[in-house]
Amino acid sequence: MSKISVKNPIVNMNGDEMARVIWNKIQNQMILPYVDLKLITFDLSIISRDKTNDFITKEAANEIKKQQVGVKCATITPDDKRVKEYSLKKKYPSPNGTIRNILKGTIFREPIIIEKIPKIVNHWNKPVVIARHAFGDIYRSQEISITKKGKLTLCFEDENNKKEQKLIHNFESKGVGLAYFNTFDSIYDFASSCFNFALIRKIPLFLSTKNTILQRYDEAFKEIFDDVYKGFKSKFEKNKLTYQHRLIDDMVACLMKWSGGFLWACKNYDGDVMSDLVAQGFGSLGLMSSVLQSPDGKILKTEAAHGTVTSHYRQHQKGLQTSTNPIASIFAWSRALKHRAKLDSNLKLERFALQLETICIETLNKGFMTKDLALMCGPQQKWVTTNEFFEIIKNKIEN
Ligand SMILES: NC(=O)c1ccc[n+]([C@@H]2O[C@H](COP(=O)([O-])OP(=O)(O)OC[C@H]3O[C@@H](n4cnc5c(N)ncnc54)[C@H](O)[C@@H]3O)[C@@H](O)[C@H]2O)c1
Repeated sequence: MSKISVKNPIVNMNGDEMARVIWNKIQNQMILPYVDLKLITFDLSIISRDKTNDFITKEAANEIKKQQVGVKCATITPDDKRVKEYSLKKKYPSPNGTIRNILKGTIFREPIIIEKIPKIVNHWNKPVVIARHAFGDIYRSQEISITKKGKLTLCFEDENNKKEQKLIHNFESKGVGLAYFNTFDSIYDFASSCFNFALIRKIPLFLSTKNTILQRYDEAFKEIFDDVYKGFKSKFEKNKLTYQHRLIDDMVACLMKWSGGFLWACKNYDGDVMSDLVAQGFGSLGLMSSVLQSPDGKILKTEAAHGTVTSHYRQHQKGLQTSTNPIASIFAWSRALKHRAKLDSNLKLERFALQLETICIETLNKGFMTKDLALMCGPQQKWVTTNEFFEIIKNKIEN
């Protein structure tokens, strides 16, 4: 098999623990032997981030901006325990957050559906893709404890010190208060990312809010989406796609009734909650992919939604075999290759990426799978080790 040549590079971000072990195997056994591809590699392991005072994460994000395609391995977001474990200079922020702030995109989380693997919600036979507006709302809020009688107000002061003030509540006894915000720039970017994603993937788009209650705040989301839709309407109609706003409670009911096959644009908190609910409904973290896409749809960073799988790494460090599911990481690579193929009009590369995905799906459907998936199928289902699974896939690519 001669190697497929690729004109432009992909930014490759390596990570931590068991995810890193799998990552190197995918790169060296499934991609580079078949594709003549220049990888611009950044080591985003916690040790490397600590050495560079996290500068390497920003460098990687800026390189993705240039090359328009990035593929990222799971990385440790340090908590106090990790700071101690790795003797870190400080508690660095999540690399995904840093990259998202630089690329200003939206994260889309999508399950990989395999016929043989039972789902908790059985009739979800097409993916539900969740887009989370990861900016503002309660995540950038200010809270206040009310300890005595008094008035809580919300006040905006303009550049000329002119004030607009609203009474929130007249407290007669103890309580709590909260204020939060969002910006139109960020909501416009979110809306553009969602319409572009739906168009590229040819799936309908739904936005959920509670605009019956938040008649300015949530209504702003609806109005901005309506405004952005004006620019997409004819393309949507040409592709027989639809866009609809629905109340969040109605949308949750629809999620349970429908069989999937749509993109759901969620406000920040709703996306936080719903992406975990949907992931659980589809069954496994090892089958959940995640992409960060820029508002114009041109820049894509792909990854598996799961973490570094620490418990398996501890086994691996002791020289024991593990049964770690590499599917979501393989799909991170295949989706990055597909995006490179689309930007470069490289049909051979697109076919290779598609073939890789098909081989993975067929392998699972034939009953060769890692332990996490076997447990979902029942006690009679056999499972293979990480290394055995890689051997099976590699043999299939070659034959
Ligand atoms: N996108 C990211 O980079 C990302 C996301 C989440 C967590 N993390 C990091 O990962 C580390 C571990 O976090 P965690 O344990 O909460 O999350 P995790 O996703 O690594 O593991 C959660 C559970 O799911 C199982 N699991 C996950 N992926 C699996 C796979 N591919 N095959 C088999 N089983 C799998 C694990 O065994 C564990 O029981 C933390 O340091 C965290 O900061 C990174």
